[in-house]
Amino acid sequence: MSDNSIKARLAEIVANAKASMGSAVNLDDLNNARVNILGKKGKLTEVLKSMKDVAPEDRPAVGQLVNDARTEIQSLHDELKAQMEKKALDLKLKKEVIDVTLPAKKPKFGHSHPNQIALAELERIFIGMGYEVVSGPEIEYDLYNFEKLNIPEGHPAKDEQDTFYINKEIVLRTQTSPCQARVMEKGKLPIRMISPGRVFRSDEVDATHSPSFHQIEGLVVDKNITFADLKGTLELFAKELFGPETKTKFRPHHFPFTEPSAEMDVSCFKCGGKGCRFCKGEGWIEILGCGMVHPHVFEMCGIDPKEYTGFAFGVGLERIALLKYEIDDMRLLYENDSRFLDQF
Ligand code: DAH
Repeated sequence: MSDNSIKARLAEIVANAKASMGSAVNLDDLNNARVNILGKKGKLTEVLKSMKDVAPEDRPAVGQLVNDARTEIQSLHDELKAQMEKKALDLKLKKEVIDVTLPAKKPKFGHSHPNQIALAELERIFIGMGYEVVSGPEIEYDLYNFEKLNIPEGHPAKDEQDTFYINKEIVLRTQTSPCQARVMEKGKLPIRMISPGRVFRSDEVDATHSPSFHQIEGLVVDKNITFADLKGTLELFAKELFGPETKTKFRPHHFPFTEPSAEMDVSCFKCGGKGCRFCKGEGWIEILGCGMVHPHVFEMCGIDPKEYTGFAFGVGLERIALLKYEIDDMRLLYENDSRFLDQF
């Protein structure tokens, strides 16, 4: 091959390289184009191989030309490669961009259960009237749960509050009333206390029953406490809880540990007493049981009924929560479905 034809061949190779590399759309294409020219079997390598045909005195000059062509092609390749890599990086950065102005994901805070909200409200009201909050054991002696509350062995009231027996003497308490006996026994008078807590009965689960629920017991013992004190206190409680328009009504009832006993109704806070679906047309809603502490209970707890009198009451916590937050099924309170609980 003559020098001139090598020169022409090199110019052609460089032109082809520019075309094939220039039209490469990705790094693979670009690399293939490079290998086709500069690789072991590439076009420029072929030219190098033909150097043996060049006259020895011309070889340095021709060799220089080949090297120049190689350098030109290689640097074109490097430049295009760098461009492609930058483009790819820019694209990636654009895709992965973080918008720091987006509002942050808020952490989900838990909140109080409706039972807890109702309990806090009740405690607030009674603490405001100077009551102390005390608690008693959920696993209780039959003695406190029944006997000292004037419910001796064989008393029909025991049937109404069937429970879970640990043994003959120990039961899961059916009411918070045993706290009355425990506090009175201590003999620190006067007494003004409420006692909230869990109670148990062997009841089937339905919309208004559960084998485990909560009550709040109240007890006041002092000299000269009368039914008027009971009425005044519970009336104030009802107005605080359901609003100042609320009226109360006391219906005679029977509890073994109080005499006289009553159930307190409040005027329906939905219809104001006219009668609606909420109060089943009655205008009144039953809220709690209450009465004057039975003299026999005082005696069994070591308090002289001639010197002291007192009143007591018991409220179902779930009943208050269901009424106040207009929940129509008690089971919702125990299922802990956050779609339900989040509404309070
Ligand atoms: N312990 C009663 C019950 O579970 C409720 C009750 C009624 C409590 C009258 C009292 C009371 O302290 O005086 O049905």
